Amino acid sequence: MERELALEFVRVTEAAALAAGRLMGRGDKNGADQLAVDAMRSMLDTVNIQGTVVIGEGEMDEAPMLYIGEQIGAGVGDPVDIAVDPLEGTNLIAKGSPGAIAVMAVAPRHHLLHAPDMYMEKIVTGSAGVGVIDLDRPIAENLEALAKASGKAITDLTVVVLDRERHHRLIDAIRAAGARIKLITDGDVSPAVATCVEGTGVDMLVGMGGAPEGVIAAAAIKCLGGEMKARLKPEGPEQMERMLAMGITEPNRVLELDDLVKGDDVLYVATGITDGDLLQGVRYGSRYSTTHSVVMRSLTGTVRYVTAHHRNDAKKTSGKRV
Ligand code: FBP
Repeated sequence: MERELALEFVRVTEAAALAAGRLMGRGDKNGADQLAVDAMRSMLDTVNIQGTVVIGEGEMDEAPMLYIGEQIGAGVGDPVDIAVDPLEGTNLIAKGSPGAIAVMAVAPRHHLLHAPDMYMEKIVTGSAGVGVIDLDRPIAENLEALAKASGKAITDLTVVVLDRERHHRLIDAIRAAGARIKLITDGDVSPAVATCVEGTGVDMLVGMGGAPEGVIAAAAIKCLGGEMKARLKPEGPEQMERMLAMGITEPNRVLELDDLVKGDDVLYVATGITDGDLLQGVRYGSRYSTTHSVVMRSLTGTVRYVTAHHRNDAKKTSGKRV
């Protein structure tokens, strides 16, 4: 993929964040999501790609924008797979809680797993966990192995887990092993990425979350040289059928990072909506609004943080550019 695309996509997540951030704390998660989707959708058409949405807002027959299979972009340039989450953490924005982001991943055509909306079991760490963690081992053993590989005591490791009833036994086991825990209410993409970023104080993300979010996070993990293992958790025959249709015929198969994101050429782009560990949220000023984004490219491993000041009265650019 052309290097220049990285910055083009930052404009896309910035637009979504600027739009959705207006509804922070207003208790309207669907309204905020719609604003993010609309902004992202129209900005995507200004980018010189032949894009196919592989992870999006739903199926074509539900008629959302950014539906799975939708063709986006200016229709020239690289054929790419696009995974979008215009508003990751709809509850977070509704309450004004930290950690909501606008995020997307882009890779050459057929390089992203077309994960439908179902649960996924995940374990994610930074580079210390490469070849060390195992989804099928008890959490205590994974913590011990990670502690050894990273030269830390288990008691100094911090594990992020979604605060859900389904995780109660997992949480008990982590506590029994002696590690620190950060329970989150929503939004497991950012903490997954944080495991790979020095200084965030996050060593591991574990538990069951959304499969689409898992693939998007995997793009960043690949860029940052971290480790991730996953397994789809279809519920009921319909989800099982969709999983089979994706070509995953062994339901219990552990998905490696390369199954989630193939090859070496992937981009991960995110803009903060509310303040988070990695990204500051949108600030609306009298003349300018400020966004804080990150863009990563696995081919080079470059990570760029982009602070942008957007003039509030600037004319919107839209339409196809060729
Ligand atoms: P939304 O942005 O769609 O609200 O999803 C947020 C999220 O918290 C994800 O980050 C996470 O993977 C998933 O939902 C967890 O699902 P559930 O809330 O059903 O446990």
